[in-house]
Amino acid sequence: MQIAVITGGSSGIGAALARLLAERGWRCVLLARGREQLERVAKEVGGEAEPCDVGDRTQVEEVVDRVGERHPAVHLLVNNAGLTRRKGFLELPPEQIEEMVRTNYLGGVWCLLAFLPLLEAGRPSDIVNVVSVAGTVAHGSSGPYAAAKHAQLAFSRATTVELAPRGIRVHTVNPGPVETPGFPQRMLLERPLVRRVVLTPERVAEAVLRSVEHNRAEVIVPRFLRLAGAVQALAPASLARLVSRAGGRAGALPDRERRPR
Ligand SMILES: NC(=O)c1ccc[n+]([C@@H]2O[C@H](COP(=O)([O-])OP(=O)(O)OC[C@H]3O[C@@H](n4cnc5c(N)ncnc54)[C@H](OP(=O)(O)O)[C@@H]3O)[C@@H](O)[C@H]2O)c1
Repeated sequence: MQIAVITGGSSGIGAALARLLAERGWRCVLLARGREQLERVAKEVGGEAEPCDVGDRTQVEEVVDRVGERHPAVHLLVNNAGLTRRKGFLELPPEQIEEMVRTNYLGGVWCLLAFLPLLEAGRPSDIVNVVSVAGTVAHGSSGPYAAAKHAQLAFSRATTVELAPRGIRVHTVNPGPVETPGFPQRMLLERPLVRRVVLTPERVAEAVLRSVEHNRAEVIVPRFLRLAGAVQALAPASLARLVSRAGGRAGALPDRERRPR
């Protein structure tokens, strides 16, 4: 049986992917911090729950030990766990900037390193890093999130090359805005002209699976958003100003409105 490990598997894109893979006969091991919701989704997909903060290297290594006892080989790792605060560097408390880097960037690094022996045992195997269009475009109003996603994108691209000789394929999926519990897109959904840009988690889950099935190194969903990265490369300051003014705060919620964990 094919074994998939999905970080952030209790909600949004990760939960949609777990459902899709389970339909295709995969056994899914789901990682997230909140135990109750994690166990609920794991039960729903006939999978396994492993409560874990991916930003904590020791916790990740302990999970790998437990998973390795049950499954000597892993065939797919999806680094999907992530969070946003939609605030700038001057607004966000330092500990939340650190949390953003630990979760959105380092979490994927620790999972890749710790799961590597199990992925090698499962060769040919795949890793998918769920990054973001925010990894290709920086603007003022979500600077710490974009910075962590830029780091995650560089990590993903570098390991695509580094792991190829080991028979492990690394794919990058960069979604645009997706309506999920942790990333509510209320303000975009309220604007008739841009509403259609907002994706469902199921659409991103399909893009993740396609990237593996068609061995695509890097995909952007929806495809036209690749333009954003190109414009940023050619005119970074103008694009940053435009995005910050037009929609950088779209969907921003005061902290008290965020869902509790
Ligand atoms: N939604 C969007 O607009 C969008 C766009 C582009 C990219 N993305 C990326 O897609 C990924 C999934 O986001 P989503 O939209 O599906 O959000 P979501 O519904 O909030 O799901 C996030 C998942 O990550 C888990 N998580 C958060 N911090 C964690 C940590 N430190 N350790 C382990 N698990 C952790 C959450 O569970 P716990 O809180 O219980 O740990 C949850 O299962 C993220 O990497 C995000 O950056 C999202």
